[in-house]
Amino acid sequence: MGQSQFGDCAMASNKKPRLKDKPALRRFLLVVSITLLGVFLLIIHMGKDSRSKSSFELDEDSSYKFNYSQFGEELNLPKQNTLSIELEKRNQMPPRNRDLYPRLAKDHTTIVLYVHNRPRYLKVVVESLSRVVGISETLLIVSHDGYFEEMNEIIESIRFCQVKQIFAPYSPHVFLDSFPGVSPKDCKDKDDAEKKHCNGTPDQYGNHRSPKIVSLKHHWWWMMNTVWDGLQETREDSNHILFIEEDHFIYPNAYRNLQMLTALKPKKCPDCYAANLAPCDVNSRGEGWDSLVAERMGNVGYAFNRTVWRKIHKKAREFCFFDDYNWDITMWATVYPSFGGPVYSLRGPRTSAVHFGKCGLHQGQGVKNACIDNGGVKIEVDKIDKVVNIKPEWEVRVFENQPGYKAGFKGWGGWGDERDRQLCLNFARMYHLEDTASM
Ligand SMILES: *[C@@H]1O[C@H](CO)[C@@H](O)[C@H](O)[C@H]1NC(C)=O
Ligand SMILES: *[C@@H]1O[C@H](CO)[C@@H](O)[C@H](O)[C@H]1NC(C)=O
Repeated sequence: MGQSQFGDCAMASNKKPRLKDKPALRRFLLVVSITLLGVFLLIIHMGKDSRSKSSFELDEDSSYKFNYSQFGEELNLPKQNTLSIELEKRNQMPPRNRDLYPRLAKDHTTIVLYVHNRPRYLKVVVESLSRVVGISETLLIVSHDGYFEEMNEIIESIRFCQVKQIFAPYSPHVFLDSFPGVSPKDCKDKDDAEKKHCNGTPDQYGNHRSPKIVSLKHHWWWMMNTVWDGLQETREDSNHILFIEEDHFIYPNAYRNLQMLTALKPKKCPDCYAANLAPCDVNSRGEGWDSLVAERMGNVGYAFNRTVWRKIHKKAREFCFFDDYNWDITMWATVYPSFGGPVYSLRGPRTSAVHFGKCGLHQGQGVKNACIDNGGVKIEVDKIDKVVNIKPEWEVRVFENQPGYKAGFKGWGGWGDERDRQLCLNFARMYHLEDTASM
């Protein structure tokens, strides 16, 4: 498995073939143990804490009644533990800071920030968001892959806009000894399930699932379904929604530029499905031309509307059955090609967001300081990055036939386990219990 032949968007996202060598495995197991220990301590802590007003306590807002048992029974979702149930309840809490910002602007673009467990990165992103012009007009939703106290604290300290946190209740990080976490009878590496009497379906390269690695794709898909179809705050949203990640530095003009792009999109680029804050090639900061650019949809700062989401959601099977643990490569190789035409995204000629994470998510995550770039993050923000720098009169230059993942690519593997595929499909069904019997 090499990947250098795919240039452009694909390289950008720091994709790594799956861990296979022994030291990597040992490192991985260490990380898992530490994570599990953390979750365990958290549960103990929560138990002790239940009398004081802990952060897990729900507001007495009756409009947020929620029936978590409903999905589980009908869809055969994994049996939830205490933490998972608490997280699911907590997802129903109203946004914070409504006292400071009682009203969202009528045409606001909701921002969804999805995070894993890199607090030092998250601080940089939150700091950058605090300088974004117009941010106080909108709602920021932060989606966590499980529960990590340090990450939670950073988000709870935000005062610059309404903010709502959601926590993936079926994250492998939330399950100590059962699927979607590691269960004792699971096959490992290249085990032969029949010989070893273990559970699991290997991927196309013969490797069994690794819970920490599949958690990324699960989280993205759960988050997408929950934001568009689950949450009271967004399930009727007819505007674009912007998606960013915990290692995306956001420039001060990002929000206003995005508003400009989404307003221009229908006229300037009817073929564009989305708007992007950054070039598809994350090493590029843009061309600096006096024109807009339409190119392949990138994975840094992308925004689309409900019409597009419905098209994506219809391809749940393609998404969930493709043997690649990367959500973005899955989209490029299966979902977008199935739309039957190029899937362009409109952007400005100068970036408004930068991917700064160097470590990737697959090494060192969870182990303190194991993978932090020395010296922190330095990103230059010039004057021109503080104001809208897109002009409505500009033409659009279209990048046709860009290289990258295409229909026919078989995937990097890591997503072969039948249980992962079913869980993924269930995420697409859980907010449509009446009308997805056929999916
Ligand atoms: C919760 O779900 C159960 C079983 O599906 C149902 O009987 C009950 O009415 C639901 N409660 C609410 C508040 O929706
Ligand atoms: C959403 O975006 C798509 C693609 O740009 C466009 O065709 C559609 O009209 C938009 N839908 C709404 C409701 O604005």
